[in-house]
Amino acid sequence: MSVSDADMVRAWTHVLTLSNLKAGDTVTLLTSADTHPQTLQTAWIAAGMMGAVVNRLDLPPMNAEFAHSRDSLAYLGTTPLTGNRAAIAALKESDIVLDLMTLLFSPEQAEILESGTRILLAVEPPEVLVRLLPSLEDKARVGEAAALLAGAKEMTVTSAAGTELRLPLGEFPAIQEYGFVDEPGRWDHWPSGFGLTFPNEGKAEGRVVLERGDILLPMKSYVADRIEMIVEKGYVTAITGGMDADLLNDYMEVFDDPEAYAVSHIGWGLQKRARWSTLGLYDRENTIGMDARAFAGNFLFSMGPNNEGGGSRTTACHIDIPMRNCTVRLDDREVVRAGRLLEEEPVA
Ligand SMILES: [Fe+2]
Repeated sequence: MSVSDADMVRAWTHVLTLSNLKAGDTVTLLTSADTHPQTLQTAWIAAGMMGAVVNRLDLPPMNAEFAHSRDSLAYLGTTPLTGNRAAIAALKESDIVLDLMTLLFSPEQAEILESGTRILLAVEPPEVLVRLLPSLEDKARVGEAAALLAGAKEMTVTSAAGTELRLPLGEFPAIQEYGFVDEPGRWDHWPSGFGLTFPNEGKAEGRVVLERGDILLPMKSYVADRIEMIVEKGYVTAITGGMDADLLNDYMEVFDDPEAYAVSHIGWGLQKRARWSTLGLYDRENTIGMDARAFAGNFLFSMGPNNEGGGSRTTACHIDIPMRNCTVRLDDREVVRAGRLLEEEPVA
C-alpha cells in the first residue's frame, strides 16, 4: 500500500522528535542510488520544518562486481566512505545522520559515531517505516531485554527441531535496537525492536537446526527443508541438509573467507507489530527483511562480522537467520519459550 507524503512527514517528525532533534541542529541525509525518493523528500521536509539545517550527501554505489544480490547487506566490504575524508568530516560535523544508503558494518561508521554524531538507518520501504513506527514502549521493552543480556554469563538456545546452542557472554556489550537515536553517538535502525549481543570470541558451541519456515537473509527465503549446522569454537563448521543447505553453502563459498562462518550477533525479536509472514508478501528486492529480524519471539542467529559490537572481525559475508519456536535462556531464566516472548518481569 502506498503511503501519502503527509503520513511520511508525520512519521519522520515522530522519529526525529524521539531522537531529540532541536532547531538549529545539523541533519545530513546520506543517500545513494537505491535511496527511496519519498523517504528522502519527506525526511528533508520534516527535518526542515523542525528547524534543522539539512544537507544531503549523495555517494555512488559500490561492490556491484562482488555482490551476488542487490540487497544492501549482501556484501559488507568497502563503502563509499572508505578513504573519503571530506565525506567523513561532513558526517562527523552533523548532529544526526539519516542513513538512507546503508553504512552498516564499516569502520567509518564507528569513527563517525565516536565523534558523537547519531546515525539512524532507514532503508525499508515507506509503508514498512510507517507501520513499524518506533515508540517509547518499544524502547522500554528492548531496554529490559538488554539489561538481562548485560547481566548474563551465558545464553542457551534449544528447540524441538534439535537446536542446542551454548553461547558464553560477557566480552561484548548488549546492544539495543529500538528505532530512534536519542543519545550522542547512538546508532539505530528504523524499523527494529530487538536486543542482541555477540558470544565470547571462539566460545559458541553446539548445533543449530533450521526447521521449515525459518528465514535466511539476505536470501529472503523461508527454509523449506531442514538445515543442520554444527558450531565449534565459535564457528559453523558444517552446514548439511537438502537443497536449502546446498544453496546456503554455495552462497557462502563465493566469499572464500573462513571468517564468514563465525557466529555473529545473537538475540531475540521484541517487536510485536513485526510479523513472520510479511517477508512472503514482498518482492525480494523491495525489502531488507526487518519484519523477519524483529518479529516477537524469534531467535536471531547470525554468521559473519563482530566489529559492530566492538570486535575485530570484518568479513564481507553476513547471514541473518530468524528462527521460530526456539527457547532462549539467559543463565537459568527463560526469555523466549518455544518462540513465545515471555512477559518481562521487572529487572532487579
Ligand atoms: Fe545481522
